[in-house]
Amino acid sequence: MQTWLRRKDIDRITEHEESRRLVRTLSWPHLVALGIGAIVGTGIYTLVGVAANLAGPAVLLSFLVAGVVCACAALAYAEMATMMPAAGSAYTYSYAVLGEGIAWVVGWSLILEYSLVVSAVAVGWSGSVVEFLRGLGVALPQAFVAGPHAGGLVNLPAVVIVFVVAGLLMLGTRESATLNAILVTVKVVALGVFVAIAMPHFDSANLHPFMPYGFVKSTGADGVEHGVMAAAAIIFFAFYGFDAISTAAEEAKNPGRDLSIGIVGSMVGCTLIYLLVAVAAVGAMHFTVFAQSPAPLALIMRELGQGAAAKIVAGAAVVALPTVLLAFFYGQSRIFFVMSRDGLLPHGLSKVNPRSGTPTAVTLFTAVIVAALAGVASLDEIASLANAGTLAAFTAVAVCMLVLRRRDPNRPRTFRTPAAWVVGPAAIGGCIYLFLSLKHQTQLWFLLWNAIGIVVYLVFGRRGSLLARGQHA
Ligand code: ALA
Repeated sequence: MQTWLRRKDIDRITEHEESRRLVRTLSWPHLVALGIGAIVGTGIYTLVGVAANLAGPAVLLSFLVAGVVCACAALAYAEMATMMPAAGSAYTYSYAVLGEGIAWVVGWSLILEYSLVVSAVAVGWSGSVVEFLRGLGVALPQAFVAGPHAGGLVNLPAVVIVFVVAGLLMLGTRESATLNAILVTVKVVALGVFVAIAMPHFDSANLHPFMPYGFVKSTGADGVEHGVMAAAAIIFFAFYGFDAISTAAEEAKNPGRDLSIGIVGSMVGCTLIYLLVAVAAVGAMHFTVFAQSPAPLALIMRELGQGAAAKIVAGAAVVALPTVLLAFFYGQSRIFFVMSRDGLLPHGLSKVNPRSGTPTAVTLFTAVIVAALAGVASLDEIASLANAGTLAAFTAVAVCMLVLRRRDPNRPRTFRTPAAWVVGPAAIGGCIYLFLSLKHQTQLWFLLWNAIGIVVYLVFGRRGSLLARGQHA
């Protein structure tokens, strides 16, 4: 068989050496909290303004498109995650169903997704902290709160938050998941406050003209690519994160039940919250008022004369963003962990610390890379490039789900995607359409990243692969 086509045995996918096994400490409330913790973040708190700028009030349609595509992908994820409750999510499913070569591309794309989300959210968090402190009369020196692109030296708060979150993870999964649950409550309550205050100000006049930039992505006279789909490709960022739960499969106490509740529950819950927030936002105020703001929801509260609510929303963003970091960081360290356990990345990275049950070495390694990026990178482009990586992984999972339905129809499925032959192709087609709606430049960066990945695979991964050496990881 061609080396890049070799596949893992699904039946053996959860067997691992004792020292390389993760501890089962999570149950479904932890997983739902982990999901919502990863989903509700920079997207709804910040990118809602960016998206409204690209689509106008029709950003509601952008939310709907991104939400439907994510929901279809989430169902495919739930089926695959419960069938293969092993760490590694889309990468592991692809390894078992589509072969090592595709799995590598998916894993490499997940590394891009998770590290860029962590870096971007760390930079966004730093911005919120700076704003928050400025409100208290404390001004931090520009050199240490922004990267070189914004006239600074290094974004120190972003670097610090990355290491704080890494430290939490290294203390052990359970502790971080419990803290996460508390922080999730805070940010969801803040969004509830926003909806409760903004909704009574709904004025249908704010929705006219509804679709000023059209539906499909098109380049305006200003050179900006906008339209409902361009906005959907950005706001997609707000919806994902449920995939980070599937990377926790190996640590779930009862993977069959807990994972499907965690993935579908957090996704459905967040979609409902988002639609309410989006309707409340574009209904309460004309989109041009808040489209350019780095804190659009807080701005709307302030414009409505609700100073206290503005502080609650802004404060919650400061508290909330670390939960997104926590979940993606968690996912990121596990992707590295599983790829190195398989021998595709250096093997030493996959040792689990016997005391905490977490892969300490890989967590630290991830922290260094992600903090370096967060210290100097600009927020622009990062979110959409993260989206590109995610779209690749979502496509692969939906393909895996369909291929396995054909190849192995009788395999027990704890969770079956309803109307799989509608939902699966909808997820695949939707992800491809969203990818094509991303900025042209972003698409090129994504292809470059994967070209580098393929070289790394050919030089290292292909030979390091335990499967290639007839061993089981
Ligand atoms: N969905 C996550 C967020 O919006 C990535 O921050």
